[in-house]
Amino acid sequence: MNTEKINLIIAQPLFKEALAKIAQKEKERIYCRHDLEHLLAVARLGYIINSEENLNLDPTLIYAAALLHDLGKSTEGGDHAQKSAELAQVILPACGFSEAELKEIVCAIASHRRLSSQGDLSYLLYQADKKSRSCFLCPAASSCNWSAEKKNSQLWR
Ligand SMILES: [Fe+2]
Ligand SMILES: [Fe+2]
Repeated sequence: MNTEKINLIIAQPLFKEALAKIAQKEKERIYCRHDLEHLLAVARLGYIINSEENLNLDPTLIYAAALLHDLGKSTEGGDHAQKSAELAQVILPACGFSEAELKEIVCAIASHRRLSSQGDLSYLLYQADKKSRSCFLCPAASSCNWSAEKKNSQLWR
C-alpha cells in the first residue's frame, strides 16, 4: 500500500473540515455516525474482504475510497454519495493519485449505496460499508430505516 498517498488524504484541510462539519451535524444523532472511526472500519473491512475474496484490488485505492466515501455528509441536501464523489475529485489530485485511479475511486464512491455484482471497487466499498455497522447491538435498530434483510443480525465472521 502507498501510505504516503493515504497520509496525504488525511492531512488535506478539506478532509479535516468535512469531518469536523459531520461531527457537528451528527452530535445528537442516535443512528450510525459517519466519523473517522466509521471511515477506518470500512477501509479495514475492505482490506479483509479484498484478501478473502481474492479480488486483487489495490489496497491504496480501497483506503482512499473508504476514507472519502461519506464526506458528502458534511454538505446540505442531495445524495451524499454524489457529494462525496465531488469532494473526492478535489482531494485526490492533491494526493498524487493518477487520473485512472481517481476515476476508479470516484466511481466507487458515487455508487457506494448500490450493490454491484462485479467484484470491483464499487462492490467492495458497498460490502465493507454495510458490514461495518453493528445493528445487532444497536439501541436505535428498531427505528432505523435499514430493512430487516439489510441489517447485520450478527457479527461478520
Ligand atoms: Fe454512505
Ligand atoms: Fe459509510
